[in-house]
Amino acid sequence: MKLLPDTAIPTYLVESQREANEALALEISQLLGAQAGKATFGLATGSSPIGLYSELVRLHRAGALSLKDVATFNLDEYMGLTPDHPASYRAFMSEHLFAETDIDLAKTHFPPSDSSGLEAACTNWEGSIQAAEGIDWQLLGVGRNGHIGFNEPGSPFDSRTRRIELAESTREANARFFESMDEVPHYAVTMGVGTILEARRLRVLAFGDTKAHILERVLHGEDDKSIPLNALRGHPDAALYIDAAAAARIG
Ligand code: GLP
Repeated sequence: MKLLPDTAIPTYLVESQREANEALALEISQLLGAQAGKATFGLATGSSPIGLYSELVRLHRAGALSLKDVATFNLDEYMGLTPDHPASYRAFMSEHLFAETDIDLAKTHFPPSDSSGLEAACTNWEGSIQAAEGIDWQLLGVGRNGHIGFNEPGSPFDSRTRRIELAESTREANARFFESMDEVPHYAVTMGVGTILEARRLRVLAFGDTKAHILERVLHGEDDKSIPLNALRGHPDAALYIDAAAAARIG
């Protein structure tokens, strides 16, 4: 992999998604090794992290990785879906990581997604992250419009966990996980941009040509504060891992 010169956020161009997944899985193993198996991870959904989760499952099956003492906080959750709905992010995490490893489900956390008492529940959720002494290592994907978590364009960089209305382009991009477009929720709860920035390390995966345009705007463009991904410019330990298709416009 190669560190690209002159990008607004440190960016590695990888030869394959597998190279990125192995590098991040190694970083996770090293972090766990350095902290006696205890760490707090921020987790993401979408297609980008699936390969990394498979690699973690592979390492676990090989006896090389245990997640039994880790705590996890997922970035976001749709509103109005039951936890067992196949398109809920809890179901996604169960399928791709949790059910396949020794993770303690009691230490896995998702943002509140029930509309009653939501504001207080979001404050409690932020409190749980603080009680876990913050997030050591946060995984992110990026939306085609530059969203992180479900922080759509225009989200303030100091925003906290809250309800957000999904952009139509986001609903369309995520419709593939539902039976029809009508089923895609209009609202989600997401960690805020400010919440995300408090993680000690931020690692972003962006693969494929649908990400090329936004990566050009962020990595080589002006510091447009309406694009949430640009918030990472101010973070001391953030890095992107992108493949050739995603890098097509900045190569
Ligand atoms: C969803 C998630 C985001 C994720 C994005 C990108 O909108 N809420 O956290 O980054 O999808 O998805 P993909 O990796 O499938 O491109």
